[in-house]
Amino acid sequence: MNIALLGYGKMGKIIEKIAAERKHNIVLKIDFYNQNELTTENLKNADVVIEFSTPTSVIGNIQHCFEAGVPVVVGTTGWYEHLPEIKQKCLESNGTMLYASNFSVGVNIFFHINKLLAKLMNKYPYYDVQVEEIHHTQKLDSPSGTAITIAEGIIENLDTKKEWVNILTSDGDNSASDNVKNDQLLIESFRIENIPGTHTVIYDSEIDTIEFKHTAHNRNGFALGAVLAAEWIRGKKGFFPVAEMFDFGT
Ligand SMILES: NC(=O)c1ccc[n+]([C@@H]2O[C@H](COP(=O)([O-])OP(=O)(O)OC[C@H]3O[C@@H](n4cnc5c(N)ncnc54)[C@H](O)[C@@H]3O)[C@@H](O)[C@H]2O)c1
Repeated sequence: MNIALLGYGKMGKIIEKIAAERKHNIVLKIDFYNQNELTTENLKNADVVIEFSTPTSVIGNIQHCFEAGVPVVVGTTGWYEHLPEIKQKCLESNGTMLYASNFSVGVNIFFHINKLLAKLMNKYPYYDVQVEEIHHTQKLDSPSGTAITIAEGIIENLDTKKEWVNILTSDGDNSASDNVKNDQLLIESFRIENIPGTHTVIYDSEIDTIEFKHTAHNRNGFALGAVLAAEWIRGKKGFFPVAEMFDFGT
């Protein structure tokens, strides 16, 4: 399969390696410095595009893929407020798109169990819940897209939480968390050198604490998941959240 990479940073480079191991060809690589090569003609050489760039460039890049009629797998995070309009544009243009806040198999298992756990915890309202996420210091968005997906999974299933709020905790000062209301789900973000991504859901009561945690050891799982998504989406039409690819059932 011919793949175009939009974004050739930390993720783009690992995706290139894993795609080659799976016998795919990289026919186009676009980064900040050669955006002039992002043309409809060049995109049409690809069977699928994989997009891991920045929150400010992702929307334009996705629209370019729709115009070229090439399916796009989107890993970039930090733009989800535009999700409804992008979905509409995808369907109107008869395009194909799959997006994920996190492509790793382990995290998608985590997402699924997180929802089941939240539903179960309705029976035990004396536990309060919060989400913690830790990432490397170059990460541009906060909270992480993965933490937002985790929080949405809790809010959909736990009656006591209505919306999430985020605090980026620096220097160990988390005094701002005192202002979080009972029906708000706190996502606390930490930025620490060299952490690929750690997410913890914490149910806390006076008696005990239950912690449900995923730790990424490196970026390979995200990259493999993105290549698997490119293989899965080829030949399909429509707009797909990654859960459709994993299909864990209910
Ligand atoms: N969904 C997932 O599984 C997953 C996993 C890891 C990272 N991410 C997300 O993927 C994105 C990229 O992560 P990264 O660690 O590779 O970041 P990075 O900063 O290492 O790479 C981003 C690259 O995009 C380039 N870029 C800037 N403008 C561009 C444009 N207009 N077109 C194409 N490229 C452009 C930058 O020069 C940079 O090289 C981030 O949003 C990150 O949060 C998602």
